[in-house]
Amino acid sequence: MSARKRVGVLISGRGSNLQALIDACQGADFPAEIATVISNRPGAYGLERAHGAGIAGVTIDHTQYKSRKSFDAALDAALRDAGVELVCSAGFMRLLTPGFVEAWRDRQLNIHPSLLPAFRGLHPHERALEMGVRLSGATVHIVRAEMDAGPIILQAAVPVLADDTPDSLAARVLGAEHVIYPRALALIAAGQAWVDGETVRFASPELARPVFLPGSGA
Ligand code: GRF
Repeated sequence: MSARKRVGVLISGRGSNLQALIDACQGADFPAEIATVISNRPGAYGLERAHGAGIAGVTIDHTQYKSRKSFDAALDAALRDAGVELVCSAGFMRLLTPGFVEAWRDRQLNIHPSLLPAFRGLHPHERALEMGVRLSGATVHIVRAEMDAGPIILQAAVPVLADDTPDSLAARVLGAEHVIYPRALALIAAGQAWVDGETVRFASPELARPVFLPGSGA
């Protein structure tokens, strides 16, 4: 097997998606390894998860930087110092400058808890319930400068139930996130999926198959 791709994971908090990536990377055949975890918030629980897995965790506190540009430069330097080849945003709650996004073009993944392009941005579950959609889900995509936009790698759908609250829907979607983020990372790291302009191509059609998770109570 060729060398595992070195991944930098960007977090801001709880880090359950980070944990899903950590768990996947423990697989002997997984084509990626986590080289560093960077949090923009001191004390983020995800840093403890990294520590627990023996991965170096770093805090780069955005409040200590005068501008987005200087924060992003520090982030970029830390990723390069760690020899990172692919970046995974996992609950990273900072908008990145176009310069940073361009520097990591086609090499940065993000997960968003909706079926993009629906419900970009904050509070997707509240808005999904307000709109009365019957399906929601999660999307892993390649990062572009526009928030929660870019070539889609994988999506997973879950039902929206009549008695859902934003929290119950978020929990169901989170389960879907943990399934597709490691899969999407593996596809990109192994070169079985790649970016072609503004879409993602796959080595074979079944690799792109959407996931449907009925979830609890369905
Ligand atoms: C996830 O729902 C992610 O999609 C969103 O923020 C949440 C982060 O959760 N952007 P965690 O930190 O991975 O547990």
